[in-house]
Amino acid sequence: MISIRLQSIVDLITEDNNIADIGSDHGYVLISLRNKGFKSKLLGVENKLAPFKNLESGLKENNINDVEISLSDGLKEVGPEFKTIVIAGMGFDTIKKIIEESKYKLENVEYFVIDSHTSFQKVRPYFISLGYDVDDEQIIYEDSIYYQLIRFKKTNIKPNYSERELTYGPINISKKGNNFINYINSEIDTRKEILSKIPKSNKKFLKLLDEISKMEELL
Ligand SMILES: C[S@@+](CC[C@H](N)C(=O)[O-])C[C@H]1O[C@@H](n2cnc3c(N)ncnc32)[C@H](O)[C@@H]1O
Repeated sequence: MISIRLQSIVDLITEDNNIADIGSDHGYVLISLRNKGFKSKLLGVENKLAPFKNLESGLKENNINDVEISLSDGLKEVGPEFKTIVIAGMGFDTIKKIIEESKYKLENVEYFVIDSHTSFQKVRPYFISLGYDVDDEQIIYEDSIYYQLIRFKKTNIKPNYSERELTYGPINISKKGNNFINYINSEIDTRKEILSKIPKSNKKFLKLLDEISKMEELL
């Protein structure tokens, strides 16, 4: 049984086109896609030996011998046939570095499925600047952590989102699912807790109040 986060990443991959999972580690996403019946070419990329070995043994234990694996850095060895790129479980700076180092390859990439574990607010503006739009997204909650999972699709029309849509997601905001509401409430609670501990004269005080009121408007 894979984690809720990884299962949700798998669920966001709806097109059975060639898929590369960068930073695959145990290969859970690729194993799950193959077991689900995806027939496309699948590639797992790892840049460190220990996770690469996890990937190799994970595939072997699941009797999967038609998933390619590569001990290489980011997108550097990923061929033009891979139309969907998954980058999950990394910080935003690492995700950005992986892409910036192989930017010319984006002409072949139709979808990105991204699970950044830091700087949520920077993820959507970055992919939009690269020529992608939010195609689907989900907030999930696991082990006391909220994750924002986003599928981006290449577009010719630059989307025009508000600041809050860029931070919390246009689809998340319009769907207002339970995880979204709980996530916003938890962000509000965190700020209220800080407010209760700092004097009104603290320069962060007004900023926190403003953030709380903007979040309350979202609910
Ligand atoms: C925290 S794990 C996440 C594993 C899995 N994707 C997940 O979401 O559970 C991050 C993995 O990314 C790999 N990684 C980090 N930078 C990478 C890069 N530039 N190229 C390939 N793999 C990378 C690490 O070795 C590590 O196994």
